[in-house]
Order: sequence, then C-alpha cells, then structure tokens
Amino acid sequence: MQTRTFLLALLALAMASPNPIPQETSIPEEPPTVEFPPITETVVPTTVPTETAIWRHPDLIPTPKAPFPIYNFSSTVTPENLDLRRNGQLLVSDLTGPFLYQLDPTQGPGQTVKVVHEFKGYSSTTGLVELEEDVFALGVGNFTLADGPTRGTWKIWRIDLRSKHTVRVEPLVSAPDAMILGEITAINASAGLLAATDYVQGTLWLLDLLNNRTTPIITSPELATTTVGSGGDIGFNGLKYRNGRLYFQVTTTGL
Ligand SMILES: *[C@@H]1O[C@H](CO)[C@@H](O)[C@H](O)[C@H]1NC(C)=O
Ligand SMILES: *[C@@H]1O[C@H](CO)[C@@H](O)[C@H](O)[C@H]1NC(C)=O
Ligand SMILES: *[C@@H]1O[C@H](CO)[C@@H](O)[C@H](O)[C@H]1NC(C)=O
Ligand SMILES: *[C@@H]1O[C@H](CO)[C@@H](O)[C@H](O)[C@H]1NC(C)=O
Repeated sequence: MQTRTFLLALLALAMASPNPIPQETSIPEEPPTVEFPPITETVVPTTVPTETAIWRHPDLIPTPKAPFPIYNFSSTVTPENLDLRRNGQLLVSDLTGPFLYQLDPTQGPGQTVKVVHEFKGYSSTTGLVELEEDVFALGVGNFTLADGPTRGTWKIWRIDLRSKHTVRVEPLVSAPDAMILGEITAINASAGLLAATDYVQGTLWLLDLLNNRTTPIITSPELATTTVGSGGDIGFNGLKYRNGRLYFQVTTTGL
C-alpha cells in the first residue's frame, strides 16, 4: 500500500475506462527483454588510482520522462500492491477482486492485462513480496469496500512463476486471528519469515511460512484504524524491512 497514491491514480484512470478485463490464464511465453547498449570497454590507466575513477556510461543514464499511464483498470478492480518481476513485467494485486494481474510496463493502456491467477473462494489480494527469483508471496482473503475485511479468511499464498508454461500456487500459512494481512515484507525469505500489517487490529504479525505459524509481534491502538468499511481509513501501512529494522507509516495519523 506504499504505492497507494500511484494506485489511486491508476484507479482514477480506471474509472474512465469502460473496458472489461479480459481474463487470460497464461502469462507471456517469451517476455520481452529490455536491451541496453553495450558498455564500451575502457582500460584503466595504471597511473591513475582506481578510487578516483568515475565509471558511467552516458547511454545508461535515462532522461527523465513525464509519467504516462500503463493501463486503465476497470472500476471493479482496486489495484492494491505492485511488484516487478526480474523480467520487467509488473504484478498487481486487487483489493476488491480475487486476482493477481500482470502488466507490461513497456506497453501502453491498449495492452491486454493478464490474469496470473484467480483465487476462487476469496474476494481480495493484498501484499506482494518476492521470496526468491520469480517466486512471490501474496496475501489473499476476503474484503469488501462496504464492510472491510473478514477475520479468519487471510492466508499467504506462494506464487511460483519460474515455469514458462504453468503458474503454481499453494497456500503457505494461515492467519486465523488476523482481520487482514495488508502490506507484507520479507524479514528473511530463506528462513520463511515475513511480517504483515493488520491495520484493523493494529497488529504486526510475524508469519512463519515453514511452520504455518502466525504470531503477533506488537499490537497497538496507534497502528490501528478507527473506522472500517465504507468510508473507513487505513492504519499502519507501507511496511518495509531492512537491516534488522521494520519501517512503516500510519495513514490515519500521518506518522
Ligand atoms: C486512460 O485514461 C487516460 C486518462 O483518463 C486517458 O487519457 C486515456 O485515453 C485512457 N486510455 C484508454 C486506453 O482508455
Ligand atoms: C469469502 O468470499 C467468497 C467470495 O465472495 C465467498 O464465496 C466466501 O463465502 C467468503 N468466505 C467467508 C469465510 O466469508
Ligand atoms: C495452516 O494451519 C491452519 C490452522 O491454523 C490450517 O487450517 C491450514 O490448513 C494449515 N495450512 C497448511 C498449508 O498446512
Ligand atoms: C536467514 O535465514 C537463513 C536460514 O535460516 C540463515 O542461514 C541466514 O543467516 C539468515 N539471514 C539473516 C540475515 O539472518
């Protein structure tokens, strides 16, 4: 949800588009490769201490361009979270639908959005984080704009995109006491440890993927929202882990 402003922009664009979402189950067989110009070989003169040398290739420094829309989602989709695959394709979760989508950032709004997977029996997909190359963890559960999230429906699913021919999905860990698993971050992906925001209860959950165990790290009213459902707001969000610290913001209070 750290991308919420951007997503709201996408959503605003979505409102303008009458196009229904084509539902394709395949992901591109041959993702387009982005080609960079070759880096010209340069011999470092031995008389120059290497620490003073500045290495850069002018063609690799892109000129900033004005932002442009990649895709206009229809108004039934609420783009929630994004992650880039290493092949440059963009994965997008949907707060108000059971889908994980894939977009091609090099294509404009005329492209056909791909459905990577539909989580049948659920109504929402949320936080998205890469566990290893082309393997992602995704929050899936029930949520409606009118009533907010449903306790006990939330799980982390594993999405394996390593095969060009099949998308493999499996539930990894259940969070029976969570109201929602919102933003997700990896504390140690190889140890199967993730953290997730439950902004309804103000709880930061530790998710142990290898042992299917969900434990609260901290619960605080300062992290919680005050209103849920229609017109409700969001408590803590935008969770990131780096070097032993967790960072987040609190939408309600602006902290
Ligand atoms: C997407 O929305 C933008 C902004 O409203 C509009 O300029 C553009 O024409 C739309 N594109 C499509 C394909 O609907
Ligand atoms: C979750 O949502 C789905 C789809 O809307 C619905 O079929 C299912 O009964 C819901 N489950 C719970 C536990 O609310
Ligand atoms: C994880 O544990 C829950 C009970 O909390 C159980 O319902 C679920 O089936 C388990 N999931 C897996 C993948 O073992
Ligand atoms: C992450 O977990 C792995 C496997 O348990 C462990 O070997 C590694 O040291 C951990 N990394 C950090 C930064 O703690």
